[in-house]
Amino acid sequence: MRDADRIDTSRPRWPTFRHRRAALSLGAGLALLLVGACQAGDAGDGAETGAASPAASAFIEAGGAFPDGWPFAAEDAPVTASEGMVASTDEFASRVGIEILAAGGNAVDAAVATGLALAVVNPEAGNLGGGGFMMIRLADGTVFAQDHREKAPLAATRDMYLDEDGNVTDRSVLGHLAAGVPGTVSGLWEAHRRFGALEWTDVVQPSIDLAHGFEVTTRLVSTLDAAQEGIRAFPHSARIFLPGDAVPGIGDTFAQPDLAAVLTRLRDRGPDDFYRGETAALIVAEMERGGGIITLEDLDRYETVWRDPVAFDYRGYTVHSMPPPSSGGLTMAAIANILERWDLGAMGWNSPETIHVMAESFRRAYADRNEYLADPDFVELPAGEFLSEAYADSRAATISTERATPSAEVNPGIDAFLDESHTTHYAVVDSEGNAVAVTTSINSWYGGKVVVEGAGFFLNNTMDDFASKPGTPNQFGLVQGERNAIGPGKRMLSAMSPTIVEDAEGDLFLVTGTPGGATIITTVLQSIFNVVDHGMNVVQAVHAPRVHHQHLPDLVFHEYGGLGGATASALEALGHTVRERDPGPPDAYFTGGMSGDLQLIMAMPDGSWTAWSDPRRGGTALGR
Ligand code: DON
Repeated sequence: MRDADRIDTSRPRWPTFRHRRAALSLGAGLALLLVGACQAGDAGDGAETGAASPAASAFIEAGGAFPDGWPFAAEDAPVTASEGMVASTDEFASRVGIEILAAGGNAVDAAVATGLALAVVNPEAGNLGGGGFMMIRLADGTVFAQDHREKAPLAATRDMYLDEDGNVTDRSVLGHLAAGVPGTVSGLWEAHRRFGALEWTDVVQPSIDLAHGFEVTTRLVSTLDAAQEGIRAFPHSARIFLPGDAVPGIGDTFAQPDLAAVLTRLRDRGPDDFYRGETAALIVAEMERGGGIITLEDLDRYETVWRDPVAFDYRGYTVHSMPPPSSGGLTMAAIANILERWDLGAMGWNSPETIHVMAESFRRAYADRNEYLADPDFVELPAGEFLSEAYADSRAATISTERATPSAEVNPGIDAFLDESHTTHYAVVDSEGNAVAVTTSINSWYGGKVVVEGAGFFLNNTMDDFASKPGTPNQFGLVQGERNAIGPGKRMLSAMSPTIVEDAEGDLFLVTGTPGGATIITTVLQSIFNVVDHGMNVVQAVHAPRVHHQHLPDLVFHEYGGLGGATASALEALGHTVRERDPGPPDAYFTGGMSGDLQLIMAMPDGSWTAWSDPRRGGTALGR
């Protein structure tokens, strides 16, 4: 594909949203013919597009519509399948997942394989050098929450990112010191060990094949374009990801031999190699070269933790999500409990009234999230308060429908957002009805920009999710408190919220999640509200423009073009400061001005699945 084809010049206001590939060239063993239904536009590989059942939804029947000029349609037909579904931000990775299902793997096998494939084809966010959270719901209804979040190295100290004047430096986001001890490899291994049906070697092999070479996508080009300056600061990161000192071209074959070797050792020796063997030695050598502090002891002591999922009721549906050190489950519970006091459906989707009460609930719950939540292994948390009716009553009682409450008047009440969507999320269901949702991250795009020499993967910069200086905003503008200060061996607070929803009968209904830093929580919730309150189907729930508030800064954010002028004015009249997200440079391939990258799967009454992957970053849902 020629470079010029990247931009749809016929739509000056918006860049093109879907990446397309001329042809697919997966490694041996990935027979494409097994795919039954898909979202991506590149037919010609035996795939059929989408579903018979189109846009029909209560939202459309009630006359619902997106704002004029909004680039995503309400009418696209979702992907429909009966045997299983995989949704991720990358078509290669989704294909790996669907092939694993077709080979007899269950949802956990497919999720693990998809996650490893993302570490290859989506190196800006998919990872071996980061961490994440996984929700699993088995077909029998048992729900598991797995924490493979990074940990602060044992040598970490509370003020390690402050200069002599007490100001926060960029060392929490750039370079070796920004890295927490990675958890992804441990988490994927533990999930497979506990629930996998296929051999470990079978789920790792597709990512090895991809690491030997895959066709460069527009996503890789566009994110490397954006991150190249930081990457250039680290010569061996640049040697691999900017070959010949340039961003690779779309359609080039991109091979990562060092990463293929790491994955091959992972296939053959399991996680021992990563945490105690040759790869561990490479990570520690990299740390010593660059002034980082992760040691062999840190790697050896890393452990995935199975935690009690957060569960709460929302209008008869049961929402299961991650407990701390993710703030997702508890903050969503607090918001949902407050909002149940209003009939959002009757108030109308995207109306000033609905956005007002959402923003007021977001504001209050984030004030408490930012102050109280942290690693539960280190800090006592008022988890019960976030879930309680009494909390929701007292918070709701302070919401006026006539006037926005300035955040300065909303103190943490149990007595800056800025999202660049750097993380990634993927979701799988299988023919038995097992479901998996995973959100994984190296935090910023390409993490701290440091590739482990000889291992070919980026290390995270997730240490920035701690409050480097409590009360001072981090890179997402989140102003977090003392409880989330840095401590050796501690996990930094996260917003990542892989989420599974059951219907009133207790049956699997939605599998949802997204990247987006501080906006993750409000984006995941809006996917649920869009379905439950506004009657949207999966396409509409993903395509619909989103709003966000996080207490500080005191702003209602909305996506570029996502709010009509009259709605924004009505919100301003209530006292809100409304901020449209910056669309970014006109030639940006993936949308500036957007928030999140939702992957949404819904169970249909006839036993089939529908799914949709967010076009904001060109993802792909595949079914079989
Ligand atoms: O764990 C968190 O909340 C963040 N590290 C997530 C980062 C993210 O979503 C990147 N994009 N903004």
